[in-house]
Amino acid sequence: MSLVKYIDRKHTNCEKWDGLIDMYGRDNLLAMWVADMDFQVPDCVISALQTYVTQGAFGYYRTPDSYYEAFINWEKNQHGFEVQKEWIRFSPGVVSAFYWIVQFMTEPGDAVIVTTPVYYPFMNSIKDNGRTLITCDLVNTNGTYSIDFVDFEKKIVENDVKLFILCSPHNPVGRVWTCDELKTLFDICRKHNVFVISDEIHHDLVYNDNNHIPSLAVGDYDDMMIMLTAPSKTFNLAACQNSVIVIPDKQIREKWDVFTGNLRVTNGNSFGYIAAEAAYTDGHAWYEEMKETVYDNYRYMRDTFVKELPNVVVSPLEGTYLAWIDMRHYLSSGEMAAFMQDKCALAFDYGDWFGGEKFAGFIRMNLATSRANVELAVQRIVQNLK
Ligand SMILES: Cc1ncc(COP(=O)(O)O)c(C=O)c1O
Repeated sequence: MSLVKYIDRKHTNCEKWDGLIDMYGRDNLLAMWVADMDFQVPDCVISALQTYVTQGAFGYYRTPDSYYEAFINWEKNQHGFEVQKEWIRFSPGVVSAFYWIVQFMTEPGDAVIVTTPVYYPFMNSIKDNGRTLITCDLVNTNGTYSIDFVDFEKKIVENDVKLFILCSPHNPVGRVWTCDELKTLFDICRKHNVFVISDEIHHDLVYNDNNHIPSLAVGDYDDMMIMLTAPSKTFNLAACQNSVIVIPDKQIREKWDVFTGNLRVTNGNSFGYIAAEAAYTDGHAWYEEMKETVYDNYRYMRDTFVKELPNVVVSPLEGTYLAWIDMRHYLSSGEMAAFMQDKCALAFDYGDWFGGEKFAGFIRMNLATSRANVELAVQRIVQNLK
């Protein structure tokens, strides 16, 4: 029997389905946006939470060593990355973490660089904190994206950039950066004293021969980097608000501790710890099957577009469960929302959210749902465009 079960999440106060009305003005759309899954979490998570709920006392929680061990073992087994317990810190979300780091690693007005198109809260964290946003566009070669290192370095030098927020693997273009690419980026950053936030929330979601290299394992960059990750994307636990911050360097850790100590946000709720520990300890079989399900959905979507609408460009899905799809041959940027929402009754993240008008002819499709939903979405696009 299948370990990965699709569930109808409507009417559960779920942002992806129940938030459609707020975001798109109607609730009868097929929700293919928001990066979480329509899959029930692994059974081990449900039973760990059930046991805790059944005992019925929800007083202050002490984070057990077993939570740290579960994460440390997961990193070692999945990524060959040896994390020390004392490097690990808590944050309720990866987004909170990079907002905070922008605040304590830079000064107001400082320049912070991102490679666009990119997960839009990166840009918000820079603008909301009164820092200067610098963008370096990834190079799009028939849907496969790469980094223009010359442009990256030029922008750093010209703008006196202090911080780089890296997305690895990259949301939304689906790249799993190679060791060489990461090393080149970090060497440029080192040369110009640029600190790196490495957002690796999607790092377990990689397919085929693609191998995620944790940024901290690329070389000796400990003194210029913080890694952010979480079990939330991997195991569908976003609402449990438990993210893992890895800071090997003592001085940077002290900065983190002072900042979060002043916020009084140094640990999370019991439900998040219990869910994370169970998932990292016993969720592996579910995780493998979930990845196959997502990749099958990707294959169906890509192959159908190749056959039916050959000028749709689907970026190769090396990592994440989010497909980046170039519809510019068929739809102008002005037509996109009306076509997707009114004609097809579909909700996507639109390309321009990830870095402005130049990405307006793209959509980001969430593939972590049932095959039936992916087929419906793809067929509606095909039928309405043909
Ligand atoms: C790159 C990236 N970082 C962070 C997040 C969200 O992190 P959190 O829910 O832990 O704040 C997402 C969610 O889509 C993401 O894609």
